[in-house]
Amino acid sequence: MTKMTNCLMALLALGPMALGMGSAQAATATRAPFGQLADGTKVEAVTLTNGHGISARIMTLGATLQSLVVPDKAGNKADITLGYDNAQDYLSHPDYFGASVGRYANRIAKGKFTLDGKSYTLATNDGPNSLHGGLKGFDKRMWAIESVSSGPEASVTLAYTSADGEEGFPGELKVTATYSLNEDNTLRLQYKATTSKPTVLNLTNHSYFNLSGNDARDVMGNMVTLHAARFTPVDATLIPTGERRAVAGTPFDFRTPHRVGDRIRDGRDQQIRYGRGYDHNFIVDGAAGTLRPAAVVEDPVSGRVMQISVTAPGIQFYTGNFLDGTFFGKNSRAYRQGDAICLEPGVFPDSPNHPDFPTARLNPGQTYTNTIVYKFSAK
Ligand code: GLA
Repeated sequence: MTKMTNCLMALLALGPMALGMGSAQAATATRAPFGQLADGTKVEAVTLTNGHGISARIMTLGATLQSLVVPDKAGNKADITLGYDNAQDYLSHPDYFGASVGRYANRIAKGKFTLDGKSYTLATNDGPNSLHGGLKGFDKRMWAIESVSSGPEASVTLAYTSADGEEGFPGELKVTATYSLNEDNTLRLQYKATTSKPTVLNLTNHSYFNLSGNDARDVMGNMVTLHAARFTPVDATLIPTGERRAVAGTPFDFRTPHRVGDRIRDGRDQQIRYGRGYDHNFIVDGAAGTLRPAAVVEDPVSGRVMQISVTAPGIQFYTGNFLDGTFFGKNSRAYRQGDAICLEPGVFPDSPNHPDFPTARLNPGQTYTNTIVYKFSAK
């Protein structure tokens, strides 16, 4: 056989993707070591790749979305998430980059709540409040890879069991995070949990998106749409007051696309002052529990577009206001205020202390789910 025929045979053996003939069955999942922590713990990562140039790397530390490569309108691929090049940095400079956050993403006022008449006390790690699960939340735990699969959809499921009483929360909680990537350029993330005792929880992903990728412009010029007619105003410590306020006529009205930077410095609105910009829970329009559109982010320069659909009642919109230039992330780049957009779907902050907010309660025998769908395109 000629060299040419050999080559053709090899391509045929690889299937239609190698010939660029279509995209069926093209998504792959590969598992590989991802270095180790200072204490010697080995970290692994699974990379999901589809036939359109998207790849998502998920590491076992924190079930973290460590990188997300997406092509721009010219087909140039770049990582659109902030984070670090190695696992230990995620522990040394924790800022929840890409992490799976729990047991309770966002804040619980004064680190206290009561459930069925019993009081619980959590560590206060954010001024007077508890933030993102406490001192050693799910972002700092090692998750186990439960399953990995390739096919029309490539996916990985990671699991973590949180002991009864861990970080002050009741009940043994068994949690899974499943990331799946398909040929429709959709990354789907689903958290599930069961508990041995009544408890409260709020699991989400804390990716910091910068759709400019390697250009690393800040996100002030990104266009954001939030399908939310109301948001939950906060006090000076970012705890909801309980009010559900209409966004109409405020810097929080993203019902039509707005540049992030246009109103972010508008201190006439006390909420902008408290948040140092945007750091607020928006109430997603439509019925919680059903998957519905929550947000769109567009970068007019690269053309990248990300649409987020959620099942959760709320979504925290945060513009990296606490990034202060002392963190050096991937490619030794300093991260500063406004370098990224976080969109964290979940129940509302401090729900355990607000009986009229959608419940954060989970009972034994029930299965908690939180589904987040990210769809990517370029224009
Ligand atoms: C969330 C919070 C922010 C901040 C970040 C992590 O988005 O709402 O206030 O704590 O997490 O730095």
